[in-house]
Amino acid sequence: MKKLPLIAILIVAASLIYWAFTRIPPKSEKSGEPEVEIEDSSEYWESVTSVEQTPSYQPPPPEHNFYSDGPKTRDGIGKYYQGREIAYVMGHPAIQWLERPEREKEEAPTKALDLIKLAPGEVLADIGAGSGYYSLRIAMTHPNSRVVSVDIQPEMIDFLKGRTDKLGIANVSPHLGKIDGIGLPDESIDAALMIDAYHEFSHPYEMMKSIASALRPGGRVYLLEYREEDPDVPIKPLHKMSQEQAKKEMALVGLEWDTTIDDLPWQHFMVFKKP
Ligand SMILES: C[S@@+](CC[C@H](N)C(=O)[O-])C[C@H]1O[C@@H](n2cnc3c(N)ncnc32)[C@H](O)[C@@H]1O
Repeated sequence: MKKLPLIAILIVAASLIYWAFTRIPPKSEKSGEPEVEIEDSSEYWESVTSVEQTPSYQPPPPEHNFYSDGPKTRDGIGKYYQGREIAYVMGHPAIQWLERPEREKEEAPTKALDLIKLAPGEVLADIGAGSGYYSLRIAMTHPNSRVVSVDIQPEMIDFLKGRTDKLGIANVSPHLGKIDGIGLPDESIDAALMIDAYHEFSHPYEMMKSIASALRPGGRVYLLEYREEDPDVPIKPLHKMSQEQAKKEMALVGLEWDTTIDDLPWQHFMVFKKP
């Protein structure tokens, strides 16, 4: 009987030794690093730009294979389309930059919003909607129209959803798109809007094809890009686009240039139409 406590002690000690050797240590203990994930946005952008193709993706026939590889610069992915290098995707850690208060002074979004026409009952797809900076403002000023906010980053979609719920905005539909298509039905939208987004589409040809299909005949494309022709616009070169370049790329998918309004401080406001 006297041996019982000793046996109990031995059993407890053996269990502790077994546990110490077999448990999986938490991440923070393994590397000595804090457990909080630290954003490495450059790596994130790499992964976003190399997302697998959708199963339905069919490469364009050889005569339409417009892409080529070339020198990879700091802000680009080394893939070229119509003579320009495609820029990295801006990762969701930059949400605060998209929502920055100085944006009004720098880009005059209120002025841009006035130029976007949307009649009651019409549907506008905001492609590359990001945090929803524009989507939400358009939805609020056009309560009888619908805004479909498309982005490829689930984190952007989640942020946008959070804001529409908080503000009680019912006419915004967040929609997770793919790198090579918006995934909306044919002839389901009246207008497409791309603000500071098109230059970073990794598959611009496929994206514009799918946008053109989703537009109803006569539908508008509002394309806002930082003016490449203006050296005073303080934006990295790959995030800018000239009018000539934009017209060439839209023409490739059958969109016709309609007008350009150059009243904004930094961006071209270009309108294209589906015939
Ligand atoms: C620089 S942000 C601009 C966001 C917003 N338009 C604005 O002006 O506040 C560009 C956005 O385009 C998105 N994007 C990139 N490629 C895309 C694609 N193929 N389809 C949809 N969104 C895309 C990115 O995820 C990013 O949120």
